[in-house]
Amino acid sequence: MAIRTLDALGDVAGARVFLRADLNVPLRDGVIADDARIAAVVPTARELLDRGARLVVASHLGRPKGKVVDDLRLAPVGRALAELLGTAVTSVEEITPASLPDADVVLLENLRFDPREETNDVSFAGALAEYADAYVDDAFGAVHRAHASVAALPELMLASGRRAVAGSLVEREVEVLGRLLRDPARPFVAILGGAKVSDKLGVIASLTERVDVLVIGGAMAFTLITAEGGKVGSSLVEDDRIDDVKEALATARRRDVAVHLPVDVVAAPEIEATAPTEVVAADAVPEGLMGLDIGPATICAFTDALARAGSILWNGPMGVFELEPFARGTRAIAQACADSDAFTVVGGGDSLAAIRRDGLAGAFDHLSTGGGASLEFLEGRRLPGLAILEDDA
Ligand code: 3PG
Repeated sequence: MAIRTLDALGDVAGARVFLRADLNVPLRDGVIADDARIAAVVPTARELLDRGARLVVASHLGRPKGKVVDDLRLAPVGRALAELLGTAVTSVEEITPASLPDADVVLLENLRFDPREETNDVSFAGALAEYADAYVDDAFGAVHRAHASVAALPELMLASGRRAVAGSLVEREVEVLGRLLRDPARPFVAILGGAKVSDKLGVIASLTERVDVLVIGGAMAFTLITAEGGKVGSSLVEDDRIDDVKEALATARRRDVAVHLPVDVVAAPEIEATAPTEVVAADAVPEGLMGLDIGPATICAFTDALARAGSILWNGPMGVFELEPFARGTRAIAQACADSDAFTVVGGGDSLAAIRRDGLAGAFDHLSTGGGASLEFLEGRRLPGLAILEDDA
């Protein structure tokens, strides 16, 4: 899929460019816990400023459900953006102010404070379009959302003869993830984790058409182990997904995809750092215990599969990595990916947080800023925020 990029934007000297960014950063007690998404939009913002444009930057933050939530105001993000960009950023407390301040970079208030953002409302898009001569989407993490600032707004801009293109972050994400979809170096190993298998069933189904090896850890593995007849104690299982999971496993095997599930797990009676732990067979977890990390034999099997990969896609932690007693599996996978000569791509906030915590970010070929967006892209779906930027020349 070819999309229009900054090269197709033409002359923007003196123009107002609406820059849709994904500044949806994790906050802890009001403090930005990880500024990677803010840093990721800086190259596009910088290029536009260098080309003489003035910017109206807009983003969502969290899920305020159409209401003003003071803790989700964007001003602190604006301060971080100013620092990373090395240019003043004027944050306004409204999404659609009557007039814009006379500044090179204006940051609008959280788009999701207005319910019309998530309903892809054309009147809301129209109000946003008032501010801009051109539109740039660099919010890769939101391209799977049919929301007004992602879908209706660029459509409206194009319909009125104004330009709408992708920024350099979206361009790179599409290029790298597209390469994994089309022409991955083999063997192609996908390693998926996280809590819920329901979030990843779609991507599992589509990956079975593309990967050679599918490695599944994290709590989601227990639904698969249950589907295979294992006993998982009080581990997290999505009973209503067992049939879907059985079908996915059968499809994978029919397509000759090697599927690796945990063979042992670190189990505890509760999710507490101080809880007593023991290593047990993954398909025979005693009643009253739950699996909270992959065990040592599983680490060996998984890292062995990764060591022989030509391409690796990783999304989702192997256990409750935030608690030290259950962090070893995720750390081992991060290290194995970092040590590998394969082309390594990682997505999903938790996996990225684990990688950064262990200081391994530099060892990966690509850290995707999109969690849900990268998975939906890899499912081969047509995403609203990208479809509108398709180059039909
Ligand atoms: C993300 O965090 O994946 C993106 O910012 C999209 O956020 P959302 O899942 O709340 O739409």
